[in-house]
Amino acid sequence: MNRLQRLLGIDVPIVLGPFGGLSSIALTAAVSEGGGFGSFGLYGYTPARIHETIALLRAATRRPFAVNLWMPRGDEITPDDVELQPFLDAARPLFDAAGVAVPTPPEAFLPPVGAQIDAVLDARPDALSVVFGVPDAELRERAHDRGIALIGTATSVAEARALEASGVDAIVATGAEAGGHRVSFLEDPAASLVGTFALVPQVVDAVSVPVIAAGGIADRRGVAAAFALGAEGVQVGTAFLRTRQSAATDGHRAAIAAAADTDTRLTRVMSGRLARGIPNRAMRELETSGMIAPFPGQNWLTGVFRAAATAAGDAELLSLWAGQAAGLSRFDDAGDVLAELRAGLPL
Ligand SMILES: Cc1cc2nc3c(=O)[nH]c(=O)nc-3n(C[C@H](O)[C@H](O)[C@H](O)COP(=O)(O)O)c2cc1C
Repeated sequence: MNRLQRLLGIDVPIVLGPFGGLSSIALTAAVSEGGGFGSFGLYGYTPARIHETIALLRAATRRPFAVNLWMPRGDEITPDDVELQPFLDAARPLFDAAGVAVPTPPEAFLPPVGAQIDAVLDARPDALSVVFGVPDAELRERAHDRGIALIGTATSVAEARALEASGVDAIVATGAEAGGHRVSFLEDPAASLVGTFALVPQVVDAVSVPVIAAGGIADRRGVAAAFALGAEGVQVGTAFLRTRQSAATDGHRAAIAAAADTDTRLTRVMSGRLARGIPNRAMRELETSGMIAPFPGQNWLTGVFRAAATAAGDAELLSLWAGQAAGLSRFDDAGDVLAELRAGLPL
């Protein structure tokens, strides 16, 4: 048993990465039931939905699991801050292609983070992982009072140090290979594109809490390498997103299954923040238009046509988030992914 296994009460130090918008109860529960640590992304969830989700997770597994929230980075806009019409007009061909009207801005883009935190603490998951920031002292105390472990996420050594100073119990060190958003909070994410192989040992040397390696790990070789670099756990996203238990659409799963090493890229156009995914019509047309609302305005805007495209099964109008190791993902069942990853753990 290493420190991470003891902290989280798990047999297998393999963490299912949370997927904001694409987590599923089935996948989170499958990983926890398999002895790993399932995480569920609560990005954009209202407090009521958070309560409902954690109750469903508890009903699906008696084993430990985490939920995940995005901390405010301080640069988020509200619908009143920016005139959104020019951005909506620029995206009109994508709304047309999805068969939806150009929407009118909502009253708020996201539920207040304070209310999300209250809901999570009230529901007492085994752990809360956070991205885009450092938990404040109040959150740390309230979480620890309730026996909830806190996990922070770093894209650089400086962020790992800041997280340790805030009192988190473990740190995910996420390299630039990872699928989804670059979760930097001290620097511009484009200036924090350290690869997993370089980042993990430098973070391990800089902090004393257990480090979980993330980004580009998709099979037993990646797990063995991460532990050789000093990690006490790994967090895997893309390889699990490909499985039938995930909430990805069939088109998204097929795009991951078909991806080669050079088939992902970083873009701001789908959400207003830098993230890694597979280019499709939406990404290309928004990159050409160059009209990208600041986060989370752009994420709301694309979310309107993405929802229609999800229902219609059109992968050309989705955010096809995936990491550079997509080409290593081989399995359609989460249990098979977990078995493959376990084979790389130190004996
Ligand atoms: C579709 C998608 C959504 C993601 N959403 C979140 C999120 O909301 N919070 C978070 O901490 N990480 C998020 N991630 C990152 C994953 O949890 C994980 O750390 C990452 O995928 C690991 O790299 P890999 O894709 O190379 O395995 C997301 C990744 C993907 C692919």
